[in-house]
Amino acid sequence: MPTAVEYAREQYPRFLDELKTLLRIPSVSTLPEHKSDVRRAAESLVAELKRIGMENVRLIEGAGHPLVYTDWLHAAGKPTCLCYGHYDVQPPDPLDEWLSPPFDPTERNGNLYARGAVDDKGQMYMHVKALESLFAAHGGKLPLNIRVILEGEEEVGGESIAKFVREHREQLKADFALVSDTELFAPELPTLCVGLRGMIYTEIEARGAKTDLHSGIYGGAAPNPFVALAQIIAQLKDKDGHILIPGFYDKVQAPSKDELKAWKSLPFDEEHYRQTEVGSSQLTGESGYSVIERTWARPTLDVHGMPGGFTGAGAKTVIPAKAVAKVSMRLVPDMTPTEAFAKYKSYVESLKPAGIELDVRLIHSGDAIVIGTDNPYIKAATNALKQVWNKDTVFIRSGGSIPIVGDFERHLKIPTVMMGFGLPDDNLHAPNEKFHLANFYRGIESIITFFEELGK
Ligand code: BES
Ligand code: MN
Ligand code: MN
Repeated sequence: MPTAVEYAREQYPRFLDELKTLLRIPSVSTLPEHKSDVRRAAESLVAELKRIGMENVRLIEGAGHPLVYTDWLHAAGKPTCLCYGHYDVQPPDPLDEWLSPPFDPTERNGNLYARGAVDDKGQMYMHVKALESLFAAHGGKLPLNIRVILEGEEEVGGESIAKFVREHREQLKADFALVSDTELFAPELPTLCVGLRGMIYTEIEARGAKTDLHSGIYGGAAPNPFVALAQIIAQLKDKDGHILIPGFYDKVQAPSKDELKAWKSLPFDEEHYRQTEVGSSQLTGESGYSVIERTWARPTLDVHGMPGGFTGAGAKTVIPAKAVAKVSMRLVPDMTPTEAFAKYKSYVESLKPAGIELDVRLIHSGDAIVIGTDNPYIKAATNALKQVWNKDTVFIRSGGSIPIVGDFERHLKIPTVMMGFGLPDDNLHAPNEKFHLANFYRGIESIITFFEELGK
């Protein structure tokens, strides 16, 4: 009988075909017109989890997109892992920048290009295929107990899963969680992510006149909500990226000396990063902090878009009645979303220009998290990665957010192992998102080996 890793290797062509089928479903959680596609993705995962031998497989319906739950709990005396992933994806626009269509997965240079290839369908599917391989090699059994929870709302804040976790602590009882939704620090470098930033995503709505107005007839007398927003936004941070909201930095914890020392020894070339990943003429941000510190351990504020007014081709002379700015802040331990939003809202309101009404709204939020490395699950993960990658694991934080990881710690009181296999140039949320296929395969082998370590 082949080992689980041998079984996986024999099946890679089929695993890849199945992943492509999943990637063809445009499960864009934020766009209402894709609601049924999101559901279809969930249903296909239900069918696959049943097929491989998981038990109690079900779709959990709620107000938002469905959750998928399943378990297999017959490894008496062995630990229980809660596998998490998300099957929703970001919108694919701008479409004309994709070299192949976002929902027509295409192989080029050892990569699979598609929206969701790495974030997170491809990575979530590594869990499913690792479980299938283990069932196949261990006579229909798993070496440890497994629960799986998949969501279709991660990219829009993850409200449904957060509620489910709060209300079903017993049903999700586990020793640790496994999340594959992060990146390797560099190609070929096994990496565990042990910190994520939190976030608050907000909208500021500014209203001036009661209706859109001719800008010649009324310009000079009527307030302009876009100008108002520009004036407000200009006062949110200074030119060094220091956020000007009073008290915003009060709870910020500096990383430990050990962490800072470890980060200094990571293979990082700022100039290479500027050219290959960012592609701007200069990097910006708070002086006195390295790029790694600025993106992993410092809060930031960004503007994503300002819907409203006239954005068509050509010129229209209008003073819009209202304008919106989408503004988010990334948070770090020990900031809390509630406090951060309260401080932000009262500061923004204090900047209100004459003649303008403001509405400052919270769209979604999530906590920052740092996970201790001193637990048996991180140790087993490091051992497994060493066997598969033949290198020592580096521990990193990431500037991104996965809100549920904080909830696992707070409500389920369990640590999360963030074992992800994306690459820094995988174009998450951008055109030409890809998954390096060697990492898809080695990710499956890493997860198999990790689970076998825990079952010893
Ligand atoms: N997988 C990403 C987060 C991520 C990416 C973590 C790379 C570490 C390394 C996740 O799908 C994501 O994009 N999260 C959103 C948060 C959400 C609340 C909208 C984010 O970070 O913007
Ligand atoms: Mn993700
Ligand atoms: Mn994402």
